[in-house]
Amino acid sequence: MARPKIALIGAGQIGGTLAHLAAIKELGDVVLFDIAEGTPQGKALDIAESGPSEGFDGSFKGTNDYADIAGADVCIVTAGVPRKPGMSRDDLLGINLKVMKSVGEGIKAHAPNAFVICITNPLDAMVWALREFSGLPHEKVVGMAGVLDSARFRHFLAEEFGVSMRDVTAFVLGGHGDTMVPLTRYSTVAGIPLPDLVKMGWTTQDKLDQIVQRTRDGGAEIVALLKTGSAFYAPATSAIEMAEAYLRDQKRVLPCAAYVKGAYGLDGMYVGVPTVIGANGIEKVIEIEMNADEQAMMQKSIDAVKGLVEACKGIDSSLS
Ligand code: LMR
Repeated sequence: MARPKIALIGAGQIGGTLAHLAAIKELGDVVLFDIAEGTPQGKALDIAESGPSEGFDGSFKGTNDYADIAGADVCIVTAGVPRKPGMSRDDLLGINLKVMKSVGEGIKAHAPNAFVICITNPLDAMVWALREFSGLPHEKVVGMAGVLDSARFRHFLAEEFGVSMRDVTAFVLGGHGDTMVPLTRYSTVAGIPLPDLVKMGWTTQDKLDQIVQRTRDGGAEIVALLKTGSAFYAPATSAIEMAEAYLRDQKRVLPCAAYVKGAYGLDGMYVGVPTVIGANGIEKVIEIEMNADEQAMMQKSIDAVKGLVEACKGIDSSLS
């Protein structure tokens, strides 16, 4: 049986990490694309040469030609520029929108049947634009956001409670920006919701509030530390989790920036919600019940994403 083909658009820090993870997990043959000559070729060869020690087979190709992504089953898009300390993700909108246009057209021409995962920021607006430029079905184009934000939330909670992250579940919804919505009522340790753990005296509301804020600032914390780029290990791991759910039809329940029409009172837009990912892409958007405070936070986040989408339309008239 032919191995799946995974096209990674962008061979920077995240692209290289994605390629290595896909190799180690033997998810399929990897094509690493970038406009920078030599970079994707060098990284692909380097990863292939790690195969004998790690013990994986597969084909790894670096390219500057979109034609080489032909027939890809999965495309993961990291092309574009990362933010620098002091910048918000939204500051990248103009520059990365242009990149999404050429990436979207490349995918449309060469990999129209792929499941497309966007990582480029500002995430929710870029996944929307990528979908518009590529014309692929909405359920096959998705943004990696909630998986990463929830992983950060889980890590901070596991540290606070001194337990394994395996026993911590967490949901972060909304846009992948400063307005994201970490949902404490839907996050648990060993199935016990966080508000109950406060009542039990295992932590305090203040401490939880600090963790929620640290989760919201999680990307900026790494940018401030790295100084010359943004996070890449956790974003790559999150996207690979989504790609694996699709390729292996795992029916995983994962929060991600999906196209939502009908649920959450939305009339068709991309925002972070819980979804089921399987062989058909986004197979289901799960609408959870929210109280008034949670609804207000979600609405604020939705409004922020809508503002960015309007800004995209103002920059590129083909999007209006
Ligand atoms: C992240 O959350 O790590 C990414 O969105 C990158 C960034 O700029 O924060």
